[in-house]
Amino acid sequence: MTVEQLYRRAVAVGMEVDYRGAAFLQEQMANAKAEYQGLCQAERARFDRERLTNPYGDTRIVNGPLDREVSSVLVGIEIYGAELLLAHAMGQAGKPVDLVIAHHTTPINRGLFYMDDIVDIHKSALREIGADVQRGDELVEKWKTQIGIYWRDVTPPFARLLDIPLMTIHTPADLCHRHARHEALQAHPDIAVGEYIELLNSWPEFEASPYAKVRLLCGDERAPVGKLYDPTAAGWRPLLDIFELACQADIDSAFIVSPTAEYVQMAASYGVNLIELPHDANDNVGLNLMLDALSQDEPLTVYGCSNFVRMERASKQAG
Ligand SMILES: [Fe+2]
Repeated sequence: MTVEQLYRRAVAVGMEVDYRGAAFLQEQMANAKAEYQGLCQAERARFDRERLTNPYGDTRIVNGPLDREVSSVLVGIEIYGAELLLAHAMGQAGKPVDLVIAHHTTPINRGLFYMDDIVDIHKSALREIGADVQRGDELVEKWKTQIGIYWRDVTPPFARLLDIPLMTIHTPADLCHRHARHEALQAHPDIAVGEYIELLNSWPEFEASPYAKVRLLCGDERAPVGKLYDPTAAGWRPLLDIFELACQADIDSAFIVSPTAEYVQMAASYGVNLIELPHDANDNVGLNLMLDALSQDEPLTVYGCSNFVRMERASKQAG
C-alpha cells in the first residue's frame, strides 16, 4: 500500500461510517466541484482540489512522496518535531517508519486546510436531534467567523527536511469511534445511561487507564439513554450556545468531550444526562478502529507515540 492509497482508504473508511450518509457527502463534494469550476485560473491554483474527492477538511497528506510504500506507521495524537525525530531515529535503530500519522492538526496547517469541511458537521449533529435548523446553522456560521486560523507550519519542516511522509487523519478516525458507540447503543436500545457507560468503559482504551473513563457528570444513571446528542467527530466541542440549542431539542442525554463546568450546569438545568468522553482515550478508540480497517487487507506495523497506544480488536466491531 502506498502513502496515497492509505490516505484514500482512510477517507473511504470515514465515509463508510459517516452518519450523514453517502448522498450528503457526494453533494458536498459536488458543491466543491461547482465552486472550483466557477473560479478563474489564478483562483483555481489556490483551491484545495482535495476537497473534490475528500469531504474531510482535516485529513490530508502533508508530506510525500505519494508513491512511497507503507508497511509501518508511527501514530500519535499530536505530532511535533520530536516525533519526527523519533521516526528518524527508529529508522537508524532498525525499526523503519514509512509514514507518520498525526490525529490532531494543531501544529500542521495543511491538516486544517478547509474549515467548512470540518465544523459544518455540527449542523448535522443538530439536525440529527431535530434542533432548530435555522438557528443551528446561524450559530455554526457565526462560530466559523470566530475560529482563528493561524499559519502553523511547526511539524511539516521536520517531515520535509528528514524526508519522512506525514499525514493527518482526524475526522474519519473520530467518525469511527462515534459509529462504534452508536452501534453499541443500537444493539441495546433500552439500555440505561449507567449500563451504557459501563459497556463503553469495558473497551480496551478506557479499561487501560484508571483516569481515562467515560463518566456521567450530571443526570440519572438509571434513566434510559433515550434521545442522544452526539456532536463528536466535528473538529471541536460545540460552543455553549450550540449545546444549549441541543438541550432545547428535548434530548435525554449528550456526549461531550472534556466538558467544562458551564456545560455541566447547562445540562443540569435542562435535565440532560451529560456523559463525558475522555479526550485522548476516545481519540485512541477512533484511531485503533481506523487502523484495524487500514490493516485489513495488508499487514501494517503500527508504532504508537504521543498519547496513542495501539490496541487491535479481534473483529472490526468495537464493544
Ligand atoms: Fe481529539
